[in-house]
Amino acid sequence: MIVLGIESTAHTFGVGIATDKEPYILANVFHTYVPKEGGIHPREAARHHAVWAPKLLREALEKAKVDIEEVEAIAYSAGPGLGPCLRTGAAVARALGAFFNKPLVPVNHSLAHIEIARLFTGFKRPLAIYVSGGSTMISAPAIKRYRVYGETLDIGLGNLLDTFARETGLGPPFVKGGKHVVEICSEGAEEPELLPYTVQGVDLSFSGLLTAALKAWKEKDKKKVCYGLWETAYDMVTEVAERALVHSKMKEVVLVGGVAGSRKLQEKVKLMSEEHGAKFKPIPYEFARDNGAMIAWTGLLLYKHGVKVKPEEARVFQRWRLDEVEVPWL
Ligand code: FE2
Repeated sequence: MIVLGIESTAHTFGVGIATDKEPYILANVFHTYVPKEGGIHPREAARHHAVWAPKLLREALEKAKVDIEEVEAIAYSAGPGLGPCLRTGAAVARALGAFFNKPLVPVNHSLAHIEIARLFTGFKRPLAIYVSGGSTMISAPAIKRYRVYGETLDIGLGNLLDTFARETGLGPPFVKGGKHVVEICSEGAEEPELLPYTVQGVDLSFSGLLTAALKAWKEKDKKKVCYGLWETAYDMVTEVAERALVHSKMKEVVLVGGVAGSRKLQEKVKLMSEEHGAKFKPIPYEFARDNGAMIAWTGLLLYKHGVKVKPEEARVFQRWRLDEVEVPWL
């Protein structure tokens, strides 16, 4: 069985192709919209997706050596995400489904991040730490769904780092050679600047930290401020994850989302997990960030459990929470 997946929730348009036999992922191609200035502009990102969709679809099918006729279903990221971006991805999926007469599978983006991590780690029931621009969320499997233990009360971890980098002129680009520019800027600092640490139970909040770091940037040693920023933010994430790990009693931990590529965050999560007798395995960055393969793979799992809609019924849900999704295999 072969399923094609389309990702378009935010600034990345991705196409992935998955199959139920090894090697499971046959293609994973994407292109990311970079705003000329300021943050992400939803309508411009959507236009980017529309422009790149035909090229990436062709590229994915070529890479996978698959003819579109062999594809059994078209999976698409149905939410949560930015309205114009989601609608563009769904329109591409509907067009393919209607033209080639294939069913569609709406996939929850957060669920897809976790499911592709389960595929790569071989973990059965992991605690999932999802850290990206828009999301920061700790969840773990419950009965037939994931339970969300904690999340950010304001901005995502990636948004914190990127906004700081943009305001201080360190970026864009925000990531160089796999490292965030805030981490690079901190190199050589002996100790971190002390910055506000805001954790409330299993929830956290980054906006106070962002304001304080921007103020400190003007007055204090810049390397120390950058060190303090990532160290504080990563410690906060690790602390809430630790609380959720103890509470949920999971024995495996995965780290997913655009910030999951940070070695420094991986080290903290690994140490914390091992202290509680839990296993931690990082996954390749290409599959941790937003990508089409995770939508294809999760779409395949859902399709096998009977989830499908007709192209004309395929909708998007901007605020579709992970804990609202029925997950038949849990
Ligand atoms: Fe994401």
